[in-house]
Amino acid sequence: MMRAPIAGSTALLTGASSGIGEALARRLAPRVKKLVLVARRVDRLERLMGELALANPHAEIAIEPCDLADRTALTALCDKLAQEHVTIDVLVNNAGMGDMGMFDLASWEKTEQMLELNVRALTYLTHRLVPGMVTRGRGGVLNISSSFGLAFLPGFAAYIGTKHFVTGFTESLRLDVAHAGVVVTQVCPGPVATEFEKVAGNFTGARAPWFIELSADACAKAALRGFSRRRALVIPGLGMKVMMALHALTPKVLLRLLALPMARWLRRRQERHLAEERARAEGR
Ligand SMILES: NC(=O)c1ccc[n+]([C@@H]2O[C@H](COP(=O)([O-])OP(=O)(O)OC[C@H]3O[C@@H](n4cnc5c(N)ncnc54)[C@H](OP(=O)(O)O)[C@@H]3O)[C@@H](O)[C@H]2O)c1
Repeated sequence: MMRAPIAGSTALLTGASSGIGEALARRLAPRVKKLVLVARRVDRLERLMGELALANPHAEIAIEPCDLADRTALTALCDKLAQEHVTIDVLVNNAGMGDMGMFDLASWEKTEQMLELNVRALTYLTHRLVPGMVTRGRGGVLNISSSFGLAFLPGFAAYIGTKHFVTGFTESLRLDVAHAGVVVTQVCPGPVATEFEKVAGNFTGARAPWFIELSADACAKAALRGFSRRRALVIPGLGMKVMMALHALTPKVLLRLLALPMARWLRRRQERHLAEERARAEGR
């Protein structure tokens, strides 16, 4: 069977400075000819580039610091790659962020940043890089969506919306470019131990159950294995595979009922958290 074109390719990986992206970078570097790492934190990217270059002398490791939620910066990044004739064979759209809380209490600035990053940047990068893959008849796109892209839950409305976009977009893109041999895979992880929760602002203090939480490396390993096998959908970890199978079998009407007490609990926790924050800010 034809494998996804990782070996000897030039790959561009977003969100390489931490979590799943950093783990993907470590696993991609030994296999590719060139790896372009994208994120905002330059110090982290430089450190990772140094480490990967030392461990993988055959590969060229490059960094492109960029705020992908900034439209001008994103366009400039794509223009630079085109001007320098950098041919991207594999695009890994991993960068993403969440925002935890009831939507009526959400900050618009954070919501908008999330839409720009999770939806627009992913789509724009794909739009700029996929035509070349189709013309060359070789390439692949690996999109990191989420198990939230296959579900609905309270407390993550806009994030879940972005991941439903990624899921629908990726499945359909796969069909659009199949004729050219371009591989398109989406990964829908459950909880992964990264900086995600900190950025999303977990105010509950609740932890994911041990039997579904994975390390970033385990997630990256499953993602690349599925991509290499040209899978449409990868759900890393046995625990999450079982959870998502049960979820798919449960009638929507029941899922909606079960989610209501959770919504009430989350709202109470968030209101208490906001009151504590206000009191702290007022120096009480
Ligand atoms: N962790 C989970 O439980 C989980 C579950 C399902 C799906 N996912 C998905 O997995 C992907 C990776 O997340 P993670 O868990 O590894 O979280 P993470 O540790 O917070 O990593 C997020 C990465 O995205 C980058 N990023 C964030 N905002 C950016 C921006 N404006 N421009 C450029 N890069 C930006 C961050 O780098 P800088 O801050 O340096 O820019 C970082 O490298 C996301 O798409 C997330 O939705 C995560």
